[in-house]
Amino acid sequence: MKQTKLVEARTFEKEHKDRILPEERPLYHVTPAVGWLNDPNGFSVYQGEFHLFHQYYPYDIHWGPMHWGHLKSSDLIKWEYLPAALAPDCQYDAQGVFSGSALQMPDGRQLLMYTGVQGKDNTSECRQTQCVAIGNGIDYEKYEKNPVITADDIPETCYAKDFRDPKIWHDNSENCFFAVAGIRTADGSGAVALFSSEDGFSWKYVTILDRCRNQYGRMWECPDFFELGEKAVLIVSPQEMCAQGLEFHNGNDVICLTGTYDRTQHHFTRELVSAVDYGLDFYAPQTMETPDGRRVLIGWMQAWENSHLCPDNAKWNGMFTIPREVVLSKGRLIQNPVRELLNYRQNPVIYTNLPLQSYTKLPGVSGRILDMIVTVRPEHEGSLERFMIHLAENKEYSVSVIYDTAKNTVTFDRTNSGFRYNIISRREAPVRDQNGKIRLRILMDRYSVELFINNGEQVMSSCIYTPQEADGISFEAKGNGSFDVEKYEIVL
Ligand code: FRU
Repeated sequence: MKQTKLVEARTFEKEHKDRILPEERPLYHVTPAVGWLNDPNGFSVYQGEFHLFHQYYPYDIHWGPMHWGHLKSSDLIKWEYLPAALAPDCQYDAQGVFSGSALQMPDGRQLLMYTGVQGKDNTSECRQTQCVAIGNGIDYEKYEKNPVITADDIPETCYAKDFRDPKIWHDNSENCFFAVAGIRTADGSGAVALFSSEDGFSWKYVTILDRCRNQYGRMWECPDFFELGEKAVLIVSPQEMCAQGLEFHNGNDVICLTGTYDRTQHHFTRELVSAVDYGLDFYAPQTMETPDGRRVLIGWMQAWENSHLCPDNAKWNGMFTIPREVVLSKGRLIQNPVRELLNYRQNPVIYTNLPLQSYTKLPGVSGRILDMIVTVRPEHEGSLERFMIHLAENKEYSVSVIYDTAKNTVTFDRTNSGFRYNIISRREAPVRDQNGKIRLRILMDRYSVELFINNGEQVMSSCIYTPQEADGISFEAKGNGSFDVEKYEIVL
């Protein structure tokens, strides 16, 4: 097959990647080599290294015909760019190589499974099908019998234009490949279909694992399905969600459905639905299992609605969250940065038992690339009303984290962070009532803030485009008590 479009993309990224200075990117969060990035794809282990692909349009900082960008890493923190992996160069994927996944085949090759889009978006010709490509970790050959699954394989009414994002895994006990993909069924809303294959190339429909029934948004994008201990977890990214309480305020948001899975009947019984992230920018996460048995999640740190708001002169647009180890507690996801990040902490600045005061600024506590833990303790129950941390601060700008002890909420507020114009800039997360105690771990990396509350019980991920010279940090409290600050620079 002639891969002209891929060669073009590879040449383009090679020429343009190094025109972006290292200080114009985040340090330890993945960005595209050049141009646009959205969903993480193919997050997996291949020949002992972590591979990460992504939705990619190298030629612009806005979404265009999708390619797959490609990186690898030995520790999930330091990533190396590899040449673009896939381009929209076949009739069945001419409108885009959409999201998908990857794994290492028993014969040592790497299998990519993705959605091929043909026919213009929102026309009756638009058709999304599932396709595979096989390769060696750098170069991939699309399978000559693509597509391998079409909407016609699903025995109930569904929309051929909304059938995408296959997530593949291999089930050792059944010696079989499985994949889930998002579809839209007769009621107009999303569902997750399960398929199986003996060889990764020839697929058959198994069942519908779960359905939206117009309850959680409409189309369900980017499904992921895995077991965590005794429980099964289905993560999906519904489009067009309505807020429920403090959850799902981003329009397109992410939900986690936990329950049980009967492997013999392929039956998923849903028990609980919860939000995955409470920040302003989080979508389309994907997980994988590390060789030492950890379930690790990475997401696109962007909400679709805000994705055009990067600075005009940007040379890249879109980044990923820090990879997060996830476990379940009472059916909810607990997320914490992968432990490998600890290897890159340097220059500790540690304060313990500081008195809470109306305003505190601490020598050595500033910066835009950091890992900081703040622990707050009221003097006695009810003695603390509010605690605030201001980040990325100077005379003009600031980003605030506000803990309200009476409401038991943490608010992230980037109203004054320097966005081009006002958009929704505040979100609130419910936190566990601990009589005013709280632990906040904050990761900053030039253009983002990730907040892990009470050891990952809630996470808030958001982009900020505040000029880098705004690097101040200060603390405010209304009430009495004490707090600790432990701050590290991250150095790669
Ligand atoms: C999610 C998504 C996927 C699709 C991809 C296209 O953000 O809409 O459903 O495969 O992005 O870039």
